[in-house]
Amino acid sequence: MASIYVAALVENLLREHANPVLGLATGSTPLRLYRQLVEFHRQGLSFAHVTTVNLDEYVGLAAEDPHSYAAFMRRELFAQVDIPLGNIFLPNGMTQDLAGECARYDAILDCHPIDIQILGIGRNGHIGFNEPNDTLRGRTHVVDLAPNTLEANARYFDDTHPIPTQAITMGIESILRAREIVLMAFGRDKAQAVHRALSGEISTQNPASFLQMHPNTTFVLDEGAASSIGGIAAGKVSSV
Ligand code: PGA
Repeated sequence: MASIYVAALVENLLREHANPVLGLATGSTPLRLYRQLVEFHRQGLSFAHVTTVNLDEYVGLAAEDPHSYAAFMRRELFAQVDIPLGNIFLPNGMTQDLAGECARYDAILDCHPIDIQILGIGRNGHIGFNEPNDTLRGRTHVVDLAPNTLEANARYFDDTHPIPTQAITMGIESILRAREIVLMAFGRDKAQAVHRALSGEISTQNPASFLQMHPNTTFVLDEGAASSIGGIAAGKVSSV
């Protein structure tokens, strides 16, 4: 139900906007959203006018590598809809020039202001791969993945293919520039992170807390993820 709700938001944008820009996320959380969008496409919704920018990519993985986020997006969405290849943007994890790649991605983001940014949330409060830290970066940058992120994402890798320890991620400022943000979270193991994002102090140790400063953010939660947020003002949270 939650994913259908978010898919309907995206569908409205695609129907109303001549050149919509979607900010997209990977991970288990948006999977049902993408399935629903593919279903809408089968029923006639076109993506021919859509541009997408993804939050992040692992350093050292080629787009052809099935573990890369480029491959994830191709599998789950892009190959199943009519989006033009030239309208799809992710950081290039195979670059020899990480600083240059971050600047290239910032230029892309500057040219394509995001209409709706889809976010998941890490149990440690990360959004994109902006990990809790003493400082946060505003624009695209390279991060060392936090130990608990490596642990959480190790399930997608194995001994023959160890998880990369670095990623290129959009920064907090770029995320907050989106006209609308939809953070999705499912399951009780996200409840504390959701609670801290909504009502904790705004802190670089809790990157999702910066969403409190954004004027148009919706949290879309299942019961488990919403189980710690009694007392949050209605309207800030949609639990569906
Ligand atoms: P998940 O990851 O959707 O796989 O839970 C979300 C995140 O870490 O941002």
